[in-house]
Amino acid sequence: MKKILFQFDTDAHASSFDAVTAIDSGVDHLLQHAHCNCTNVTPLVQGGVFTRGPKDLKNTAIFVGGSDVEAAETIFQKVQESFFGPLRVSVMLDANGCNTTASAAVTYIRQHVELSQVRALVLGGTGPVGRRVAELLAWQGAEVTVVSRNLNKARKVCSQIQEISVPPVPAELPVTNDYSALMAEKNVVVATGAAGIEFLSVDDLAGYPELKLAIDLNAVPPLGINGIASTDKARTVGNLLCYGAVGIGGRKMKIHRALIQQLFVDNAQIFDTRQIYEFAANLD
Ligand SMILES: NC(=O)c1ccc[n+]([C@@H]2O[C@H](COP(=O)([O-])OP(=O)(O)OC[C@H]3O[C@@H](n4cnc5c(N)ncnc54)[C@H](OP(=O)(O)O)[C@@H]3O)[C@@H](O)[C@H]2O)c1
Repeated sequence: MKKILFQFDTDAHASSFDAVTAIDSGVDHLLQHAHCNCTNVTPLVQGGVFTRGPKDLKNTAIFVGGSDVEAAETIFQKVQESFFGPLRVSVMLDANGCNTTASAAVTYIRQHVELSQVRALVLGGTGPVGRRVAELLAWQGAEVTVVSRNLNKARKVCSQIQEISVPPVPAELPVTNDYSALMAEKNVVVATGAAGIEFLSVDDLAGYPELKLAIDLNAVPPLGINGIASTDKARTVGNLLCYGAVGIGGRKMKIHRALIQQLFVDNAQIFDTRQIYEFAANLD
């Protein structure tokens, strides 16, 4: 039986990145739906699950994506509420690559620093990827400060992280729009700003002896941390270990493809942030 993946996307055009990755992961038919919301998604789900018998439903799966991570979360929830009895399929949420990218970054961080010992700054931490990096680190006992130009936006993101976290992160994460004063106490910096936004340079980080690891997830020049090459993968610059977006991206792609394949193992798999991280952590 053919493997069918429904791609539900919040944006006007369903992500071409997610489409190519689905096809490269072995999906036979990709059914793309743009402009999805929690109202229009239920008939799409039910059309998908009523057409195949329960034992064949492992050959149908759903991917929820798009640039609006909060809207994607509500769709992901609605998709699960649209199932009943054995009429269900496996589902994965990865809006803007948030879960797979954050999982790749955090699995690299844990290779170098015990996560409960991490004291991290997440630059641009209000976006889809940054908020997941912050959540995954905090969930595993790290101290995390979310950096944003807009403190109200950052506080809202941090309270959402607390609300959705099961088990909860210990406390609402601290936020700042002026991170320079905090740099001396941090040992990890992760730049998760928008494509083409430079925050600082490796030279700016050189004077902080506690700082061990710098990760820049922005692959579009100018890069987020000037002096880190996008292909860096544990390259040493002075006292710092550096990872760039392509250095992290190889593992992100591996996780993403393996998850799409995993969706078709049975019809009961649910992959959100924690499940994706745990899957990624066991992948190697
Ligand atoms: N390497 C990989 O495999 C991979 C995969 C997916 C994504 N990415 C990259 O990861 C990064 C994060 O993705 P995303 O979707 O979370 O990004 P995003 O939503 O586009 O941006 C993240 C944050 O950047 C901040 N920002 C935007 N414009 C800014 C400016 N002019 N100056 C300072 N900060 C600014 C915003 O925070 P505030 O408004 O709160 O300041 C925003 O919430 C992007 O560079 C993306 O291309 C990499």
